[in-house]
Amino acid sequence: MKSVQGNKTKLQPFEIMLSQEKIRRRILELADRINTDYAGESLVLVGVLKGCIVFMTDLMRLIKLPVELEFISAASYRKGIKQEEDIIIGGGVVIPLKSRHVLIIEGIVDTGRTASLIMKKISKLEPASVEVVTLLDKPSSHRVKIDIKYKGFSIGNEFVIGYGLDNAQRYRNLPFIGRMIDN
Ligand code: IMP
Ligand code: MG
Repeated sequence: MKSVQGNKTKLQPFEIMLSQEKIRRRILELADRINTDYAGESLVLVGVLKGCIVFMTDLMRLIKLPVELEFISAASYRKGIKQEEDIIIGGGVVIPLKSRHVLIIEGIVDTGRTASLIMKKISKLEPASVEVVTLLDKPSSHRVKIDIKYKGFSIGNEFVIGYGLDNAQRYRNLPFIGRMIDN
């Protein structure tokens, strides 16, 4: 019984790539920019589950404007060829987005397909504006053109975990961004 559970109870080794303090300072800068850019307006934050959760809860507490929250979920077939059709978008946006300022909140942009697809769907609802906010971006992995107005950090084409981001659904609770160590 114990050996069967081994994989369930052990995490693979990882190292810290971006510390809690570094992330905290960067989110403060992003929030300052958002507070300035949207001064006098109200915002709808649309979080892309599940990767957005830690970043979004940090960011929203630093925004000093009236804010409403929505969530949509996105999952992609990792083994597929990863066209847009491979991405499943779930969850319903209840707040009418027409004429609203919308920020799509992502944990990480990789190929850009998820953000691009959500951007297209939200644009159809005729918002006053729609922009992407992501904690991490992998610019060298983009496969579609995507404008990211607010980004925390650009990273290389490597797999990262923590701060909401998972590897096989684990590690989301790590309070920093890490990378797996091959062993
Ligand atoms: P896309 O390729 O930009 O559509 O990103 C799809 C999704 O892949 C992201 O929202 C993340 O959930 C996931 N993803 C991409 N790169 C990483 C990574 O390095 N760590 C964890 N999740 C990732
Ligand atoms: Mg994932």
